[in-house]
This record gives sequence, C-alpha cells and structure tokens, in this order.
Amino acid sequence: MTPRAADQSAPAVCSPSTARSPWWTSAVVYQIYPRSFADSNADGIGDLRGILGKLDYLAALGIDVIWLSPIYPSPQDDNGYDISDYQDVDPVFGTLADLDRLIEQTHARGMRIILDLVVNHTSDEHPWFADSRSSTDNPKRDWYWWRPPRDGLAAGSPGAEPTNWASAFSGPAWDLDEATGEYYLHLFSRRQPDLNWENPDVRQAVYSMMRWWLDRGVDGFRMDVINLISKDPRLPDGPVTRDGPLGDPWDAVVCGPRIHEFLQEMHREVFAGRPERLLAVGEMPGVTVEDAVLFTDPARNEVDMVFQFEHVTMGPHKWGTARPRLTDLKASLGRWQAGLAEIGWNSLYLSNHDQPRPVSRFGDDGRYRVQSAKLLASVLHLHRGTPYVYQGDELGMTNSPFASIDDYRDIESLNHYAYEVGVRRQDPDRVLATLRGVSRDNARTPMQWDASENSGFTPGRPWLPVNPNFAEINAEAAMADPTSVWHHYRALIALRHDEPAVALGDFTMLLPDDERVYAYTRRLADVVLLVVANLSAANADVPIADAAGWAESELLLGNYPDSGNGLRLRPWEARIYRRLDPTSGFGRRISRLDDDIDKLQPFAEDRTAATLPPHQRSG
Ligand code: GLC
Ligand code: CA
Repeated sequence: MTPRAADQSAPAVCSPSTARSPWWTSAVVYQIYPRSFADSNADGIGDLRGILGKLDYLAALGIDVIWLSPIYPSPQDDNGYDISDYQDVDPVFGTLADLDRLIEQTHARGMRIILDLVVNHTSDEHPWFADSRSSTDNPKRDWYWWRPPRDGLAAGSPGAEPTNWASAFSGPAWDLDEATGEYYLHLFSRRQPDLNWENPDVRQAVYSMMRWWLDRGVDGFRMDVINLISKDPRLPDGPVTRDGPLGDPWDAVVCGPRIHEFLQEMHREVFAGRPERLLAVGEMPGVTVEDAVLFTDPARNEVDMVFQFEHVTMGPHKWGTARPRLTDLKASLGRWQAGLAEIGWNSLYLSNHDQPRPVSRFGDDGRYRVQSAKLLASVLHLHRGTPYVYQGDELGMTNSPFASIDDYRDIESLNHYAYEVGVRRQDPDRVLATLRGVSRDNARTPMQWDASENSGFTPGRPWLPVNPNFAEINAEAAMADPTSVWHHYRALIALRHDEPAVALGDFTMLLPDDERVYAYTRRLADVVLLVVANLSAANADVPIADAAGWAESELLLGNYPDSGNGLRLRPWEARIYRRLDPTSGFGRRISRLDDDIDKLQPFAEDRTAATLPPHQRSG
C-alpha cells in the first residue's frame, strides 16, 4: 500500500507535526498472553522460547510494541496476575536469560517490548505477604491492608468482615487469617492480597523493581488495575450489589484520593530523566473521561494512555450477554474521542485476555466472520489513539464452544459458576450459557498457528483445549491468503504508520443515531479520511453529505473485492476513503498545520532521534 500517493502536492513542511508527536501515536501494540501463544517444550503451556520463535511473525504483521502478560514466578492462581517474585521469570515460562534474549531479539527487529506491572496486589506466596501475615508487629504488617473484625462481631462470624465489599472474583473481599485473628483485603482472588500504597516503603520497593526492569532493557509497562492502588483509608461500606448481601467497593477504591500523587511520584522515581521515551499504559476500570484527561495530560507526568472500560461493560453487569446497541457503542467511543481530543491520548481496544473475542461479541462469527473481523479492526484502528491487537484477533479467532464447566480454567469463571449455582441456586445451564458468551477463557484458548494437531501450539496436551475451528482459522492459512483477516490487519497497521491523518487527525462522528452504520471522519490539515461500516447483515446506505463525492474518492482499504455501488454498503462492509478537502486552499493548509503543531507542543521534547529505541538510532 502507498497511502501517501495522493499527498504528492503536500509541502515538505507537513512532516514536522508527526516528528514532534510521541512515537506511540503512530504505533500499534500487540498483546501476548504467554500461556496461550506458543509452547517450545511440549508441556502444553506457552513460554518465552515459544514467543522467540514467533518474532518474525510479529515483525511481518508490522506491529511496533509487544505487551507481555505476566511471566514472573507465580502460583498461577490468576494465570500470573498473582506474582510471588517481581524480579524473575517463572520456570514454566523459561528463565531470565530467555527473557533477556527475547528483549534483545525484539529490539533487533525494530520493535519494543513492555511488561505487565501488577502492583495493586501480590500473590499470597510473595515473601512480603508471608512476612506481613506472620505477626501483627512484623515490620511488613502494614504493607497490606489488615483490619480487625467489624465492631462487636467475633472473627469468622457471618458479616464480621471489616467492610461489606465483594471481591471482583465473587465472595467477600476480605479473608480471615486465623493465626492473628485479623482480615486482609483482596479486591481480586483470596490469593491476591492488596498492597498498602499508603506505606512509603511499599512504593519505594515497587519503584526500585521498575527501575531494575528498565535498566534491563524493557521499554515500559502496562500497569494492571493501577487506578485501584489508592484507597479511601476510611474503608467505607459500599452500596449493596444486585444480589446482596455484599457491597460494591468501587467508590472507595477507583481513582482514590492519592492516585494522581502516586502516579506522579512513580513517574519522578522511575521514568523521569531516562533518555528514551518509555511507554506507561494504565489499565483503569471505572475511569471516566474527565479522569483520563488528568491521567494522560503530558504536562502532568502520570501515564501516556489508559485502558478505559466503558465500551466493554455496557450491559447491566459483567455477566450480561446482550451485545450493546450500536448507537450506545458509538456514543461511548465518540465521547472518549471528544474528551481526549485536545489533551491526553486514548488506548483503542475491543478485546484482551479478559474479554470475549470481538468477532463473536460485536461481529458475526458465522457466515460473515471474515468481513466482520475486518470491519471491527478497520473501525477501531482508524480512531484517534493507539490500537491494541490481542493475539489471534488478527486471524479472526472466535469464542470457543465450551460444553461444560470442566472445560474452563479461569478463576473468575469458575468462582462465578460456583457462586451462582452453589450459593444462589441458579440454573446451571443458564450460567453456562452466560460463560460461553463472556468468559475470559474465550480469549485464552491456544493461538492457532496451523492445521496440524493442536493447531501447532504444542506437541503436548494444551492447558486449555484448542478451539475446534483451527483447521480453517490459523496463521499459516491466513498468511498465504491475500484476502485474509491477517492481511487486512497488516494493511491497517501500515496505514497508521504511513498516513499522518490516521495518527493525528481530529475525529468527527457522523450519523450518531444510525443503528447499523458506524461512520466518522478524521482530518489533518487538508487531508480528510472517511470511515464507513455496516454492522448488519443487510445492505445499508450511508446518508452523509456528499455521499456521491465520497464514493468517487480514493478508496484506501475495504473488505470486499470491489469498491461497490456508491455509498451503499453490503453486509458487514467497511471502507476507508481519503481525499483532500476541496474547501481548503494552500494557505489554509499551512495555518491548519500550524494549529496542529501548536496543539502538539506539550510533546515538543520528543525529537525524532529520541523517539526511536536505542538500537534504531543512527550514529
Ligand atoms: C486485570 C487483569 C486481569 C486480572 C486482574 C487482577 O484486570 O487484566 O487478568 O485478573 O487485573 O490482577
Ligand atoms: Ca512450555
């Protein structure tokens, strides 16, 4: 693809806007869930050497950054999000030497690599927690949240937990330690005790660990549930949830009173003064657009972008199966585009290791699987922000047809089933139907590399069954077929690299009330891009101004073999057009560009050389 073709007339002055913007505005991140990516030693679990063997695959796709889900020593209660040693590699994934080699080989291919930073909690097997629980006067007691039973109630009696909070993984968020008679807080599983960030020693220990990894060559971090680290120290009860008797902790823990202070301190202690611009991505459930502006305002030195959850939690609750109305989805994503238009930056994602497969959730994973997978990618990648590709989405991988509860491994899914069926006496078939739609294991089935046994993921027995559709949906077949979902992703990634309007253009939502068509424009100086997509299995017209003119414009990318008839879209059809704004003359081009450059001034310290990883710099 040569997306710059129509740009021949552009004066050379066009380039400074991109040279000054941070490198990640034109980058695409690829998330690897190591357990499920590639197994090198036949134990049925993916590992670092497996990833090493697939780096050329990632380079061929064109991605810029790898985000590795946790590879640290862990009892694997939550597949590695329960860490027992922050400065090593779990033997199931390999060794520190394997990781060093992976970092080096990733850099050698011009890509960067960021690690998952899980510091809201540790594993209960972390030595810090072992010390903390050993006695009430241990120096590390205060590194976690310990509280006596509720006033007037005996430890262990019903309702004696210090607050009424529910954990995100079902049941109370407090567990009693029999030896000391106190409870510890765990917002996730009972084996993931929450660290007490009020304690400055905890913070310094985390910062020093982070510096150690940066010194080792990693290019930044994806920070797990980082907006939960500051809790309202009064620990107030929360509103009782729909099923009672437990309460919702979120008001007291989401973006708590010291969250900005902690992130600014982290920035000073860890990132500031390093020559290369590193990447800090905050995963932030419950974050609002207004919060996100503060978190990602470059002048505040907190994080570079956040993962927000609004568009993946649009149902009544996590376990609702209904797909969102398209108008609701557009209203939400459009609001985030508008809210971060002037200050801050979006992360763009439809899936990750915690979400079902997008083609099953938002698209059509049957007859229109290929078209709808390409459509969803096109719509997402052309928004303003940094797109994230979750492993296998570039193949259009689908949800898995789990038959019974024994097929699941995910702690959240297993706990939910046990609670709904065992405690709330719900119909097991209904609970299973829900899990089939939204369980995290849908995203965690092994990567489908080829049509050989176990999809080429492992010569052993995979830890989670391979999706039976691997003979049809796999990387080898996709790479050999120029019309595949994989090649479409490759084209989208290249488009972000090559067309400044994709990275930096402003965003305007069109047709907000249309239940079938997603349409928007991006504009940078006088280049205008139009994205139109039909999220339905019937034909749909795109009733925008100058539809006929747009249909005659340059079609950059579509998901049908021909350009079709006017702006009438076929089932699950998506098109990306580009044209020069006929209303703008050369003078307007220059002044728009000046405006655009001014908007980017907060990033002015980024010079081209400084935006490249060290190995890519010349001289
Ligand atoms: C994040 C992770 C998820 C994990 C949870 C607790 O949401 O993405 O996988 O279970 O935090 O660490
Ligand atoms: Ca292995």
